[in-house]
Amino acid sequence: MTSNHTIEAVRIPEVKTGGSVRADCSVLNERMGKVVLVTGANSGVGLALCQRLLSEDAQLQLCLACRNEQRAAAARQSLLSSHPKAHVSLVRLDVSSMRSVLRATEEIRQRYSRLDYLYLNAGIMPSPQVDFRALYKGLFSGKAIHMFSTGEGLLTQKDSVTSDGLQQVFATNLFGHFLLVRELEPLLCQPGHSSQLIWTSSSNARRSAFSLDDLQHKQGAEPYSSSKYASDLLSLALNRRYNSQGLYSSVICPGLVMTNLTYGILPSFFWSLIMPIMWLIRIFTNTFTLTPYNGAEALFWLFMQKPESLDPMLKYHSLTSGLGNNYTQTRKMDIDDATSAALYEKLLEMEKTVRRKLNDEDEEH
Ligand SMILES: NC(=O)c1ccc[n+]([C@@H]2O[C@H](COP(=O)([O-])OP(=O)(O)OC[C@H]3O[C@@H](n4cnc5c(N)ncnc54)[C@H](OP(=O)(O)O)[C@@H]3O)[C@@H](O)[C@H]2O)c1
Repeated sequence: MTSNHTIEAVRIPEVKTGGSVRADCSVLNERMGKVVLVTGANSGVGLALCQRLLSEDAQLQLCLACRNEQRAAAARQSLLSSHPKAHVSLVRLDVSSMRSVLRATEEIRQRYSRLDYLYLNAGIMPSPQVDFRALYKGLFSGKAIHMFSTGEGLLTQKDSVTSDGLQQVFATNLFGHFLLVRELEPLLCQPGHSSQLIWTSSSNARRSAFSLDDLQHKQGAEPYSSSKYASDLLSLALNRRYNSQGLYSSVICPGLVMTNLTYGILPSFFWSLIMPIMWLIRIFTNTFTLTPYNGAEALFWLFMQKPESLDPMLKYHSLTSGLGNNYTQTRKMDIDDATSAALYEKLLEMEKTVRRKLNDEDEEH
């Protein structure tokens, strides 16, 4: 990425308009097929999704939205080495920083005239701690596999505060993505055209970890679970708000996948030690998808669906059978319209406050 935060893999045709030169995005989009933007695309499930999308559709305009330029460039390189003719560009985006979201979206709006798919995939689970008492209890209850595959009751995290004054997990997993959607609304809501938002949520999303009175989960020890539950609620609210404008939102769970995120929970030697057991458990539980390729199944499946046919109350789960076959299965979410609408209103309020704060800072400078 260059100093203006982007590297473009494609040359955008330029047209003269009243003395100024600009990229003719509409011409570009028509010629180049579907436009897909993926946050957190440089590793894990996000990167595996990009590989799968390029294998499916060579005409795709794929934009990797990542916070780290070296890791982003390496991901782009690995995608191009398997798909040398692919159109892969980068935009620098730190979803936990509201300034970064505003800068990136300005860049994206200049580059594209529409977005067909926005994958809201970037996520963190900082300093996860295993609750060994819960682990010990769980092992001897009938819920051991459920506990391992969802992390329910097993994991707590240590959160911090961003420069915007928001809780880090909330800002990354939810609020930054909310602002991204709001800023990209003109590209996502195009007359006569439908677009999809696809959230990488989790089975760890739990109502009991979430409170409308503590949206950012300042008080609790499970900010990850809270933020993922909030993304399920937000997806529903976005459907209610935007379906009439051709924008549809869905949530998925990738299953238990070995990625940087899971390697943060326990040291890698431990995972290596228990890996044979994990593969064994896979025979009995389809939620142990284990590889990023398998974990990306539901994200990829949704790419092929007519969004109008999707049920906003369902979560789409990536599953892998004992024989290693991937499939997507739906499960009803524990969400309701009233809580979802209340969350949406609170997020709009919070957005106003954040924008005001940024404006004040700009004026001061
Ligand atoms: N692995 C699992 O078992 C599992 C289960 C359920 C849900 N999930 C969800 O799956 C999604 C992908 O995670 P993963 O398992 O593939 O882990 P991962 O390999 O760690 O991928 C996370 C991605 O998010 C990016 N990211 C983190 N913070 C960011 C920020 N502030 N701005 C922009 N990008 C940021 C990371 O970038 P960097 O490389 O720069 O850190 C990375 O590309 C997450 O939303 C996670 O919650 C994972």
